[in-house]
Amino acid sequence: MSTAWSWYVTVLSLANILACVWLIRWTAKKRPGEGAAGDTTGHEWDGLREYNNPMPRWWLGLFYLTIAFALVYLLLYPGLGNFKGLLGWTQTGAYEAEVKKVEADVAPLFAKYAATPVPELAKDPAAMATGRRLFVTNCAVCHGADGHGSRGFPNLADGIWQWGGSPEQIEQTITQGRQAAMPPWGAALGEDGVKAVATYVRSLSGKTGDPALIAAGKEKFQTLCVACHGPDGKGNPMLGAPDLTDDYWLYGGSQEAVETSIRNGRMGVMPAHKDLLSPQRIHVLAAYVYGLSHEQP
Ligand code: HEC
Ligand code: HEC
Repeated sequence: MSTAWSWYVTVLSLANILACVWLIRWTAKKRPGEGAAGDTTGHEWDGLREYNNPMPRWWLGLFYLTIAFALVYLLLYPGLGNFKGLLGWTQTGAYEAEVKKVEADVAPLFAKYAATPVPELAKDPAAMATGRRLFVTNCAVCHGADGHGSRGFPNLADGIWQWGGSPEQIEQTITQGRQAAMPPWGAALGEDGVKAVATYVRSLSGKTGDPALIAAGKEKFQTLCVACHGPDGKGNPMLGAPDLTDDYWLYGGSQEAVETSIRNGRMGVMPAHKDLLSPQRIHVLAAYVYGLSHEQP
């Protein structure tokens, strides 16, 4: 706040409080002829007349108390422009102190979790309750509250892994994020080529199609796609190239959806969480994700 605004706020606040004091004193004063029966404000409604009496003393006392409270409050806490208050209290300070306290409370627990290997931790109900809370807060927007995902957001509970399902790979995925790069093939293949390769790709997971198309598609696949998806289409977790033979589809398995994947490419992004979550929390989350597709206690 600039100095001018600071003064503006300060003067306005104090003037308001002084005005309240003046108003109370003014209304409290007895006016000539007051107290006598029949002295009314002149307001009348339906036979009811409003008497012009000063307010009771205890009531006035309450008003003075609120004013005293306001002044003391403004002296102790920030409120008058840039004046920081005698207590030095700030909202961020209060927040940070609270966070610090909570962190100190949970530190021994997370230290214990950090020393426990993921598969073991996944069997610890207390750790998994924490993991679940972390998951709902940080991951559910994309992967769903139950981790079952949706189109473009992988299901984490099915044991099918694009980037690998070992504890280390899952932790790496969460910490560093993942950037999938499936290039677009529409220009290189042409529409007929896209159709043929899509038919072949779908045949890998048991879908039937025109054998001539499948044969033509296979040939193209062997030259253009094996570098990432492997000669048998089983994929490569180093590149995040999915297994195309398992009939699990991140972007849909219809002829149309597979053609779209091939024609336009796909660039799924899993955001890195290293700046958002401590390594210890990521460890607990990795155990939670690991546990989704493994035996639960
Ligand atoms: C440079 C490596 C690379 C090459 C080459 C490549 N892909 Fe991919 N492909 C990927 C990656 C990585 C993904 C995952 C994309 C994502 O998650 O967003 C993917 C995804 C796909 C998908 C979507 C799978 C799903 O679950 O929805 C299909 C279909 C596919 N590729 C087919 C092909 C075909 C056919 C070719 C050859 C014409 C090919 N890819 C060439 C890396 C590659
Ligand atoms: C902004 C959306 C978003 C958020 C938030 C997000 N993810 Fe992801 N996640 C994705 C996408 C998209 C992919 C797939 C990337 C690709 O196409 O390869 C993914 C991939 C993954 C994978 C790899 C799956 C596999 O098959 O290998 C894991 C594990 C994962 N996420 C866990 C998490 C966890 C745990 C969190 C919470 C800390 C989280 N994600 C938060 C979007 C998100």
